[in-house]
Amino acid sequence: MSQETTPPDVIIDLIKVSKVYPPDVHAISDISLTVDRGEIVFLTGMSGAGKTTLLRLISRMEKPTKGMVDVAGFDIAKLPQRNIHLLRRKIGMAYQDFKLLPNRTVADNIAIAMEVVYHTKSFIEKRTRELLDQLDLVKKYGTRTEELSRGEQQRVSIARAVANSPEIVLADEPTGNLDAETTGRVVNLFHQLHRQGTTILIATHDKSLYQHTNSRVIELRHGRLRSSLPETFAPNNEETAIPDLASTPGA
Ligand SMILES: Nc1ncnc2c1ncn2[C@@H]1O[C@H](COP(=O)(O)OP(=O)(O)OP(=O)(O)O)[C@@H](O)[C@H]1O
Ligand SMILES: [Mg+2]
Repeated sequence: MSQETTPPDVIIDLIKVSKVYPPDVHAISDISLTVDRGEIVFLTGMSGAGKTTLLRLISRMEKPTKGMVDVAGFDIAKLPQRNIHLLRRKIGMAYQDFKLLPNRTVADNIAIAMEVVYHTKSFIEKRTRELLDQLDLVKKYGTRTEELSRGEQQRVSIARAVANSPEIVLADEPTGNLDAETTGRVVNLFHQLHRQGTTILIATHDKSLYQHTNSRVIELRHGRLRSSLPETFAPNNEETAIPDLASTPGA
């Protein structure tokens, strides 16, 4: 399943990828992109530019119409249904529309991600509380997610995405509903994951997430790559890779 052409430090490799939704919506056109293990990449671009589609191709929620998508050694187009779980174990996805189970509690929603992989009950509870504490949601531990605000639901979806410490985190507009202080908490969580070697792709309209960083910023326009600035990327520069908003009041 490994691609001989993909160097071992590349964890995501797209070669001339296109995605056409029927009948003829060209969501992604001829994109080539490599992401190194441990890198943070920001995906920007106007509404409809193809950011979510690109993340869905990487997580194999969509198959490419053309081209090759290789993620953690899996060739997405050829990955049989029975092996998709092997890829998904390596990926945590925070969806733009959250995809929470509305009538289950916050804790249940986060635990579900961890139960897929074997974890003890006490480990799951400890990890859940730790994440909720980081995201200022401890008080909502036992609340059904349908009773939460949009911003609270968004943070639960982020907690669920990172709970298993996946190799790759895909975050689709992770701060779209958050104020500056809460955004700071999410950024700090990503910063911590980055220090641990996690590869992170963040689709965002929020310039504050990347404008003072050296991380790579990729702009999509009508499904095409508009710009990529790898020369400014400093993968091992933990202090500047993404802003540390620990100084944000209350963060
Ligand atoms: N399931 C689908 N079926 C048909 N067309 C789709 C589907 N999903 C997305 N599209 C179309 O593909 C294009 C890219 O959509 P996508 O959701 O990837 O954009 P985006 O950059 O994430 O936008 P936003 O910033 O609004 O979230 C749009 O024209 C959209 O209407
Ligand atoms: Mg989107």
